[in-house]
Amino acid sequence: MVFKHDVLIVGAGLAGLRAATEVAGKADVALLSKVYPTRSHSGAAQGGIAAALENEEPDSWEWHMYDTVKGGDYLTDQNAAQILAGDAIRAVYELEHMGVPFNRTPEGKIAQRCFGGHTRNFGEAPVKRICYAADRSGRVIMDTLYFEAVKKGIKIYPEFHVLDLVLRDGRVAGLVAYELATGEVHFFQARAILLATGGFGKVFKVTSNAFASTGDGPALVYRRGLPLEDMEFVQFHPTGIRGLGVLITEAARGEGGILRNSEGERFMERYAPTIKDLAPRDMVSRAIYTEIAQGRGIDGQDCVHLDLTHLGEKKLAERLSDISSFVKIYLGIDPAKEPIPVHPTCHYMMGGIPVSTEGMVEDETGSPVPGLYAAGECSCISLHGANRLGCNSLLDLVVFGRRAGKQILENLDRLPWIDPPEAPQRDWADRIRRLLENSKGERPVVIRRELQQVMMDCCSVFREQKGLEKAIQTIAELEQRASSISIDNRGGRFNTDLMDGLELLNMLPLAQAIAASALNRTESRGAHSREDYPQRDDEHWLAHSLIRKTDQGVLIGAKPVTITRFQPKPRTY
Ligand code: FUM
Repeated sequence: MVFKHDVLIVGAGLAGLRAATEVAGKADVALLSKVYPTRSHSGAAQGGIAAALENEEPDSWEWHMYDTVKGGDYLTDQNAAQILAGDAIRAVYELEHMGVPFNRTPEGKIAQRCFGGHTRNFGEAPVKRICYAADRSGRVIMDTLYFEAVKKGIKIYPEFHVLDLVLRDGRVAGLVAYELATGEVHFFQARAILLATGGFGKVFKVTSNAFASTGDGPALVYRRGLPLEDMEFVQFHPTGIRGLGVLITEAARGEGGILRNSEGERFMERYAPTIKDLAPRDMVSRAIYTEIAQGRGIDGQDCVHLDLTHLGEKKLAERLSDISSFVKIYLGIDPAKEPIPVHPTCHYMMGGIPVSTEGMVEDETGSPVPGLYAAGECSCISLHGANRLGCNSLLDLVVFGRRAGKQILENLDRLPWIDPPEAPQRDWADRIRRLLENSKGERPVVIRRELQQVMMDCCSVFREQKGLEKAIQTIAELEQRASSISIDNRGGRFNTDLMDGLELLNMLPLAQAIAASALNRTESRGAHSREDYPQRDDEHWLAHSLIRKTDQGVLIGAKPVTITRFQPKPRTY
């Protein structure tokens, strides 16, 4: 079938929902989502949303901006950080007025807590800046925004997987999508498309990301020869449940939790003497792996302890109830009585589709691609630099999702309907039929597991040349093997087996882009830590990287960092 909407938004997490609710009522907008919308990964966000409300203690948006820039190891574009921190207060009160049930202070104001890298007075000490709803902040914000979308009557296509972007002469014509319920392939014509498809942590074996986080948006863009930005910067959250990677929110440390090694030592005192366990995630993740490498992992294993036993049952029940129940379910541990074994887990991609601060997708020259927009984790506004601070993500989604929605409306009159070159859905329906008929190839899961393992071994918290070269070589071989995968389930309805195969074809090139960009950057900055180049090198590398596919192979270029108020300095905490 062919569907037609002025504006199509792909992804129903917070960025997609916030953009859609901005456009609704002013243009015909539809939302497509691979999962049922309320299962989008934004709902898994636990800790909260940052804004200098000053409800608990003095704070300022300038301190927030500074922390964002320093947290990003000075790769953050400072114009973007200024927008984020400056608009945060309005954005949080907007959510409150929509009905988000934030925790409250005794006087009834939105309660706030500490989080990694958020400080007062330009780095002096931790500050209470994070607005939260226990440890299910993403869940309640997403449910509230979803209700707004329903109230506004936005057309939703649930469980539609986007297969391809259709461009003509460099302009957006529409997209091709696969309907999970029927197995049919459809063409959606649109004047503007916003990609808000989330991250791609599933390229790693240990991750806090949902199954659906396979980077479909960035993969579509990359396949079309457009660049991806800063792909080497992958965030590992310090506290994933050992072996599983399930997130234990940083709010646990914001509320007073302490990381300890096998000697019971609060080891973060040595790595970040000023803010200790509340140092930014890249530093804490490196510290944990260093403790383990030096033989101070718990019982000689690859984990340390997160100690919450001193917080008391009341606080755990009031503020950290979800993680308390995860720990009980997955480990059989009561966090009020025993410490939790944790290690870093792949959590967030700082890199993605390059966009302006208004969400317009940019090509390798920095020119906008007419009709194409992106927001949220799949995009790279260069806001989080080399390392995102906790709770700046939910904020990014609502601040920049709204801005993208506004920009789409502003541009819409200048975006004509473009006819597709031919019926693009026929071509994709044929490809899927051929894929389902192939019985000779390997099953996608075999290739996916090898990919996740090599990414974990060679591209995670610490990297070096040999490992990265091995990853690039292995991924190339896996891409070759994936060109003839075979799918067990040949059915048309809810074929999740086929979905695994389609997602794998998106994950492989993104993994290749991460490894190639990481090999290219011969310095250590933020979450990109090269053992063979341990220093930050501003002289050569204070620049964003842009990677794209060409007929001659992968090309990596650079783009300047926008510095306005804060000159790069050594990063100590
Ligand atoms: O630790 C957390 O609750 C994660 C928050 C975030 O990634 O922003």
